[in-house]
Parts: sequence; C-alpha cells; structure tokens
Amino acid sequence: MIRLVIVCVCGPLLGLSLGGSPAAAQDRTVRLHAAEPLVASGLMRHILPRFSLKTQVRVELSDSTEDAQMVLGPGGTPLFRGLGETWGLQVLAPDHPGAARLAEWLQSEVGRRTVTGFAPDGAALFGPPAETERAVAEVSLDGDVALGRAVSRQKCTRCHTVDDESRWSGIGSTPSFGVLRSLPDWEQRFAAFYALNPHPAFVIVADVTPPFPKDRPPPIVPVEMSLDEVEAVLAFVAAMAPADLGGPLVHQ
Ligand code: HEC
Repeated sequence: MIRLVIVCVCGPLLGLSLGGSPAAAQDRTVRLHAAEPLVASGLMRHILPRFSLKTQVRVELSDSTEDAQMVLGPGGTPLFRGLGETWGLQVLAPDHPGAARLAEWLQSEVGRRTVTGFAPDGAALFGPPAETERAVAEVSLDGDVALGRAVSRQKCTRCHTVDDESRWSGIGSTPSFGVLRSLPDWEQRFAAFYALNPHPAFVIVADVTPPFPKDRPPPIVPVEMSLDEVEAVLAFVAAMAPADLGGPLVHQ
C-alpha cells in the first residue's frame, strides 16, 4: 500500500507537538482517502498543510478507502464543485478527534475559502457545491411562460423536443420536455437541470454555475442563460401540465 504523507513547512513543528504519547499522536493524525482527480489537481497539497498548520492535526493520504478514516470524493456531504463533479465528504470514523477536526474545518468558512482560493493557473478550480439546492430553493414557478418557451426553443431544441411545433427537432434518444414533464419529479429536474448530466459540461447559468475546468472546455458551443431564464423555462414546462397529465410516456 502506498501512502503519501503530506509534508509541509510545518512538519518539524508538528513533529515536536506529536512527540507525546502514542494515543495522542494517533488522535492527531487522520488518514484521508481523496479521489484521484483531487490529488492530481494539487488541491490536497494546497489545503492540507494549511489545515495542519492551524490545527496541529496531521493528514496522511491513503490510496484506498479501506483504512481511511475519511473519504473526499464524489458522494457524501457536498463540499465543493469542480472538475465536472461535486465533491463530498464521508467521515468513516466520526469518533476520531482528528477526523472530526478535519471535517469541521472543511465545512467551515475558512476551509471553504481555502478550497475555493486554490487557483493553480490563476483561475479557481473549485467553487461552492450548492447549485442544486440553491436552484431548487430559489427557482419558483411564477416565471415568464412566454420567455420560457422562447428560451427553450432557442437553447434546448438542439437536443430536446420542447413542444409540438419543435417536434421535428431534437435528438431522438433525448427525452422530450413532454415526457420529462410527466415524471413526478419533473420540477426538481428542470429547476436543477444544469447540474444534471450531461448539462454541466456545456451549460452556464450566470452567477450560479462554476467556470468550466480549464482542461475540460465544453464539447459544444456553451448554452448561456440567466437564473431568470431557468425560472421561465420552469414556468413554461409547468404550463404544459394539462396536455400531459395522464398521457402515455412516449419517447420521441
Ligand atoms: C447538447 C444536448 C442538450 C442540450 C442543448 C440540452 N439538453 Fe437537456 N438533456 C440532454 C440529454 C442527453 C438528456 C438525458 C440525460 C439522461 O438521460 O441521463 C437531457 C436531460 C434533461 C433533463 C432531465 C434531467 C434528468 O437527469 O432527469 C432536463 C430537465 C433537461 N435535459 C433540460 C434541458 C433544458 C431546460 C435545456 C435548455 C436550456 C436543455 N436540457 C438542453 C441533452 C441536452
């Protein structure tokens, strides 16, 4: 098993403070498994020494989840977003003081700022994770239906059939808005569609979505819109209700 120990300028200092009893040393060392893209991005080298300096808790990166006390990866409690993914935290050993301290720090204002402040080439790689929750919370159904129809026709018909008049547009395998509208959770899906695949790769919602990762430019011309337009699309789709209620689930 390869284990990377994060070495930082504070190493000697930590060494001194860790010189006490083995139990205390164990409490002050936490084994973290971080997903490979996070390690490769350099994020761990950026945040962990800062955490250690602050807290005197040392972090060992473990390359498997098996002996880790914490996991940073896709899933868990969402912490931040970037590299096309929302990254979350799972604490496997909640009773471990070092793990608890690291979890607390990562979720704190300072911890979040340290993550979003990581800008290896001058551009931040990670932003806040909250798109989904924020959009669901903020987007209401009383948007502008006419605007929603126009936006949908202009920005979604490349792939989706959005209404009868755009029936012959869209990509056959992509669900039509009518089909999506008949799903019980259609509202959540539309409120946060830009956070659901495949959209994060090419949709920009002003002030909401993080910038595209530098090394992964959008594969197609990006779809740019405002939160008002998202709300308008939601209102437009909401207004489609009567036509679809009870209708069969037909894929175009
Ligand atoms: C480049 C193609 C493309 C464009 C443009 C596009 N979509 Fe999609 N969309 C897809 C595909 C493909 C799926 C099906 C994904 C799946 O089944 O996992 C999808 C699924 C969805 C879903 C369901 C998501 C889910 O996970 O349930 C919603 C809602 C949605 N799109 C809304 C929109 C809206 C609104 C627009 C325009 C502002 C739009 N899409 C533009 C390709 C596209």
